[in-house]
Amino acid sequence: MTTANPQTAAPDPIRFVGETDGHLVLIDQTQLPVDLIYIDCRDVETVWEAIKMLRVRGAPAIGIAAAYGVVVGMQTATEKSLEDFEARFHEVVEYLAGSRPTAVNLFWALDRLKATFAAEKEAGKSVSDIHSALLAEARFIHEDDRQVCRAIGRHGAELIEPGFGILTHCNAGGLATADYGTALAVMFTCHDQDKGIHVYVDETRPLLQGSRLTAWELVQREIPATLICDNMAAQVMKEGRVNAVITGADRIAANGDSANKIGTYGVALLAKAHGIPFYIAAPISTFDLTLPTGEGIPIEQRDAVEIIHGMGKQTAPANVHVYNPAFDVTPAELIAGIITEKGVISPVTPENVAQVVAS
Ligand code: MRU
Repeated sequence: MTTANPQTAAPDPIRFVGETDGHLVLIDQTQLPVDLIYIDCRDVETVWEAIKMLRVRGAPAIGIAAAYGVVVGMQTATEKSLEDFEARFHEVVEYLAGSRPTAVNLFWALDRLKATFAAEKEAGKSVSDIHSALLAEARFIHEDDRQVCRAIGRHGAELIEPGFGILTHCNAGGLATADYGTALAVMFTCHDQDKGIHVYVDETRPLLQGSRLTAWELVQREIPATLICDNMAAQVMKEGRVNAVITGADRIAANGDSANKIGTYGVALLAKAHGIPFYIAAPISTFDLTLPTGEGIPIEQRDAVEIIHGMGKQTAPANVHVYNPAFDVTPAELIAGIITEKGVISPVTPENVAQVVAS
């Protein structure tokens, strides 16, 4: 574990050090914005725990971390027969798939590694070659995400006019991806273009990804931003401060229904009531075309302690009944457009989703 000054360090949220016998280094996002702490993941259990406990979080980042987690998890089987190596591979993949259910990028990344394994085995490769190919695939997923984020930023910035106030919920920034974010990529790009935007940041109860992470990223980049409590969004919109809402997504169904951090659906309803366009920014890897609508998206239920003992302080009776869904689904009809690396899907219809995803 290493620490750095969170005010000055340029964070690299995910890093893989070395070759197939190397290790994964993650920023422990639960410690931000106070401490910038890096955790070394030298076994798959540490990667699983980091995903489960939101030390690494955000749909694309979870997928990247899991891909490297497979590489780390296979290190205990490199002296084994191909058959035993393969058995371990499936065990590791299943284990990581059980860490969090909603972000489809996790399963997308694991499926890519499964395809890599199958192709290498088919080609008659050795255990060592297969392990190297898994690392190469994880590195490709990681590097590709950087390009994807930049493209999302470029497409999204075209929707934003100079001087816009933009509201966002949760953290869909550099910490949630390889380096530039999805929703925040749009804001970073607009800022680079001197568009004079102002970002309103929902604090995002119960785990405060907005205030702890999004506000931190915006402050680091010196982008004008104002933090608000979640229950202030309606008032801020009514005052005319918000011209667009942009959030990320964890899973998007074939009709465009989009799961994102709990509270996003409410923000979309508020945007509709105030005539403000609501956009989702997400990579193609966040689409799950096996689900016709958002009804089928599994919603993660999290521990009551996150609400009763939020941020380490007891704020409710210890034995009160708690409901703690981590995500909600915003119906496609509330979404003005989905900003992807391949362009903006608008209007959000099953036909337009299918066309852009396949392009
Ligand atoms: O529970 P989290 O913090 O993983 O939830 C993250 C979000 O809801 C993000 O908005 C989403 O994953 C997109 S990240 C580019």
